[in-house]
Amino acid sequence: SRSLSVGVLGAGTVGTQVIRLLTEQADDFAARSGARLEITGIAVRDLSAPRDPAVPAELLTDDATAVATGNDLVIELIGGIEPARTLILAAFKAGASVITGNKALIAAHGPELYAAAATAGTDFYYEAAVAGAIPVVYALRESMAGDRVTNVLGIVNGTTNYILDEMTTKGLSFDQALATAQELGYAEADPTADVDGLDAAAKAAIIASLAFHTRVGLDDVSVEGIRDITADDIREAQASGCQIKLLAIAQRREDEHARGVSVRVHPALVPADHPLASVHGAFNAVLVEAEAAGRLMFYGQGAGGAPTASAVLSDVVAAAAHRVHGGQAPRESCYARLPILGPEAA
Ligand code: HSE
Repeated sequence: SRSLSVGVLGAGTVGTQVIRLLTEQADDFAARSGARLEITGIAVRDLSAPRDPAVPAELLTDDATAVATGNDLVIELIGGIEPARTLILAAFKAGASVITGNKALIAAHGPELYAAAATAGTDFYYEAAVAGAIPVVYALRESMAGDRVTNVLGIVNGTTNYILDEMTTKGLSFDQALATAQELGYAEADPTADVDGLDAAAKAAIIASLAFHTRVGLDDVSVEGIRDITADDIREAQASGCQIKLLAIAQRREDEHARGVSVRVHPALVPADHPLASVHGAFNAVLVEAEAAGRLMFYGQGAGGAPTASAVLSDVVAAAAHRVHGGQAPRESCYARLPILGPEAA
């Protein structure tokens, strides 16, 4: 039967789980995608770092360019802008389909990556970039393509939700809660991206771009993180029947006062009976409002190795099936080109 080669860039928390599942469930992946998926190389920065036994030592290399340019499918899980951007562009140039979980890169360079995929005639998939296991990208890009989305409201950063939750329910200090989130593998390599709202802002930019068929970059998102939230703030919120949540908010306005999109991330007081108030721990939830559908809510594990690997692997199956049977991932849809409104217009 047919086989496709797979290169993996990065073997951190998510990459390790992707490699483990792809290996352990190889027969299922072959049946679902129509081809055997053979990992041929795993690029890592430090060859001597200790690794999970699920990562085959003989596949490790520090030649990331060779992995990016020598495979049918390339899975980028390094994170950050460079060298991830250069490697992905090289992968497209070599005719690969690319799967990534890199929200910072997409929020900063999404249009360039989409264009490179279109030139190559291959797929660009990034389900893992937003809300881990929850199929938010698929939902906005494909399921909602028949509707007009007006608002998206989400808890899209597991680390900050976990921290706020531990501070609320266990009375932990901010630093104690952050240390546990790091141990559990939720936090980014540099947790300031979580704590200061930048990780959520990158996801909000991706969400808004997909939801409203426009281009929203990281710089278009107004951001406030949770660093300054104190135990007193949390007690006061509870006393008034609310919970403090870090929300990502994307709104489209088209009325006599304003036309455009407003995208922002900030801590908000959520009433205890609101659906987002019951999102605990590292879970994420995304509430979508559309003209015809009304309200939809997506809920699940938004961080962590295995849940995020689930999203990566769904993209791997789709991209592999396209290479076997034909078909392509959706192209960038940005026909609306809406102006960015400041937070005051919301
Ligand atoms: N650091 C991120 C979070 C991981 O805590 O949600 C998922 O993007």
